[in-house]
Amino acid sequence: MKFFVDTADVDAIRELNDLGMVDGVTTNPSLILKSGRDILEVTKEICSFVSGPVSAEVVALKADEMIAEGRKLAEIAPNIAVKVPLTWDGLKTCKVLSDEGHMVNVTLCFSANQALLAAKAGATFISPFIGRLDDINLDGMDLISDIRAIYDNYGFETQILAASIRTANHVTQCALVGADVMTAPPSVIKSLANHVLTEKGLDQFMKDWAKTGQKII
Ligand code: E4P
Repeated sequence: MKFFVDTADVDAIRELNDLGMVDGVTTNPSLILKSGRDILEVTKEICSFVSGPVSAEVVALKADEMIAEGRKLAEIAPNIAVKVPLTWDGLKTCKVLSDEGHMVNVTLCFSANQALLAAKAGATFISPFIGRLDDINLDGMDLISDIRAIYDNYGFETQILAASIRTANHVTQCALVGADVMTAPPSVIKSLANHVLTEKGLDQFMKDWAKTGQKII
């Protein structure tokens, strides 16, 4: 499963990228707001050191304007994936930009039928939002499983990009049900390294080592 980082925080992306943990990046208007930076400038900086797909989201709502915005975003770098919302206009935009050879990430997906439409419109990625479904007492992971089954039934090549990931358990479940990619905030990716028994074991080793009085260097 590929790891995308869901942030526009350049320092956080660099830290994970240096460890080889970054297969791509996703941003959205809320994350751009949080970064406090200009979308074109910050996206260009991210693309200067991330070689995988970097999603940048259009903000127009009508297809013709979305297409124009998408083309402008795609000029930033060859690895831009233009992110469009799962609306009818978003699907029209997806079809046009995909036919032009651009990567397209269709976002804000909350149903299997929406995912089916995105695949038929030629999406490179479909982004089902797990956490936001869980927030309203639905099972986000069921949606990932349903989309996996549907895409496999018909051989769709659209990659399932599990989004709105809030916990380490979400990551495990995505890997088990076969998401192609998961995108998570840096804090969630870093939390994957944590285990209480690792901490407990290390603490014991340190105590015992101190008792030996030895040094390695
Ligand atoms: C995905 O591309 C979105 O940017 C993101 O995963 C949304 O996550 P949230 O529901 O935690 O805001």
